[in-house]
Amino acid sequence: MQKNNRKYLIAGNWKMNKTAAEARELIKEINAVVGQKTDVAVAVCPPFTALESAAELLKDTNIQLGAQNMYPKAEGAYTGEISAVMLRELYCSFVILGHSERREYFGESDAFINEKVIAALESNLKPILCVGETLSQRESGEMLSVIETQMKGGLKGVGEDNGENIVIAYEPVWAIGTGKTATPEMAQEVHAFIRKLLVEQFGETGTKVRILYGGSMKPENASELLDQSDIDGGLIGGAALKAKSFAELVTIAQSKS
Ligand code: PGA
Repeated sequence: MQKNNRKYLIAGNWKMNKTAAEARELIKEINAVVGQKTDVAVAVCPPFTALESAAELLKDTNIQLGAQNMYPKAEGAYTGEISAVMLRELYCSFVILGHSERREYFGESDAFINEKVIAALESNLKPILCVGETLSQRESGEMLSVIETQMKGGLKGVGEDNGENIVIAYEPVWAIGTGKTATPEMAQEVHAFIRKLLVEQFGETGTKVRILYGGSMKPENASELLDQSDIDGGLIGGAALKAKSFAELVTIAQSKS
């Protein structure tokens, strides 16, 4: 069941996969099956190089577009970077920020991620802020304090008026791309904790923020995860690269809406 009017969001994080030509094919396939769904929110986040052609194909559909990263400055001498304004011009609605791969391989700190969150909101892009613990942090009992640091650091300075423009993705690092999924109970424990932090920061608005689960979510395990009271959708990696599995995930979310 959809909870507190939070419409499920199924978002595909394609990571560094699909050329522009391959992206067009995949989008056409996804579109044919789920392009007109309205009771579930659907988004795809292809690489930067495929955004323009994706935007063109998604124009008259209900599928929204997202990017996987951005730089916090609006323009200037930042070779190789892309700004929020540039993404908005390509009809992006969302931007994934603070993904664990960016934290790990590109050394992104909570403070830097926070600059991006603020810049995205100023340009009317909705950040999908990713948080999650590693296996060793979970095993050493630091899980909730890690999540709290990432949440408070990432959302510093974001006011209640912007609360509803934020999406959180809880992605346990040990479950990403590994085939290991958190059990629904393990995920719900963290989602409930994130909900508490959101309510502390945004008051009543915190109950309206969507919290996605990410980490090896696929049609076989999605139903039980989506049944949890604070799981409002999924950020899907591997299973978003095939139209069939991605569409199945949307259909599962729809069946609960
Ligand atoms: P996965 O990736 O579904 O392949 O585990 C999820 C993500 O990293 O966003």
